[in-house]
Amino acid sequence: MIKKTVLSGIRSTGNLHLGNYYGALRNFVKMQTEYNCYFFVADYHSLTTHPDPAHIHENAKNVVIEYLAAGLDPEQCTLYVQSEVPQVTELYLLLNMHAYMGELAKTPAFKEKARKQPENVNAGLLTYPVLQAADILIHNADFVPVGKDQEQHIELTRKFGRRFNNFYGVEYFSEPQAFNFGTELIKIPGLDGTGKMGKSEGNCIYLYEDAKSIEKKVKRALTDAGPTEANQAKPECIENLFTILRIVSSAEVVKHFEDKWNACEIRYGDLKKQLAEDIIAAVDPIQKRIVEIKNDPQYIRKVIKQGTEKAQENACKTLREVREIMGFKAF
Ligand code: TYM
Repeated sequence: MIKKTVLSGIRSTGNLHLGNYYGALRNFVKMQTEYNCYFFVADYHSLTTHPDPAHIHENAKNVVIEYLAAGLDPEQCTLYVQSEVPQVTELYLLLNMHAYMGELAKTPAFKEKARKQPENVNAGLLTYPVLQAADILIHNADFVPVGKDQEQHIELTRKFGRRFNNFYGVEYFSEPQAFNFGTELIKIPGLDGTGKMGKSEGNCIYLYEDAKSIEKKVKRALTDAGPTEANQAKPECIENLFTILRIVSSAEVVKHFEDKWNACEIRYGDLKKQLAEDIIAAVDPIQKRIVEIKNDPQYIRKVIKQGTEKAQENACKTLREVREIMGFKAF
């Protein structure tokens, strides 16, 4: 039976956080045995915020290490770094000819970024979804495991692929679907009472963060004055704590605190103590693996070399076919 193709990536803007892990990476790990998987480090995507060149290489390497530490097996999946596969950027250029200013400028992600960095609204920011579409379409992925915030980018990818097919009268690109094992895509909230946990939101708990620092961050999480009526709905900041609790803690622990909340007996200090403990326990094995892998640079080099070769092979094939469809011929 032919395996369906899966692809996903994470930007290399620093260490990975709980949102990256529970929204995406954990699913990469679960999918790798059943599907034909491509997972990569989106280092070009990190350029839109003009990072220091001194950090580019280390950041990308760190994400590779964290992928491996979380359980990606380079013998089961193809693991690579975006900038090592130049066919992606050529496809990006070609797709750009069929992506329009108007549609790109009105995406919520672009508007949000333009608001956040008004001094640096570069063309890379505008065409960010086209590069993401190139990432996905270069391997003609069927499924893309991502968190809730990426849904729109996958929708745009489908649009670009469909447009290409219609324009050239082919059925070349398939329609990739955002994926989370048949359930809603996940949004891990920040602990500051705001929407999502994110690097640019500055509210992350990282996979590679020491226990003391995790405790401190959880302790500082925003709470309210507490419930005043039995079974009342939780305000957003409390719901956020419970959302993370449901992910890292056992069903008994969650029930215990739900019952306390419903009986107006909850003590946020206890809730936070338990939450911090369970987060620390969840990241502990990953942290141990990170240390091991960091100490083995030869292994990291081997993994990246092998992944680059496998990714390039498939990417070259796609690009050859796309160029032919578009009318490019060998001289
Ligand atoms: P990035 O690097 O912001 O995030 C990587 C993955 O982590 C998920 N994620 C979250 N999920 C739940 N809750 C959160 N708080 C949270 N924060 C992050 C994201 O949904 C994502 O799945 N544009 C992409 C990277 C990318 C990509 C691709 C992804 C480039 N090309 C092709 C898939 C396919 C991004 O910036 O993700």
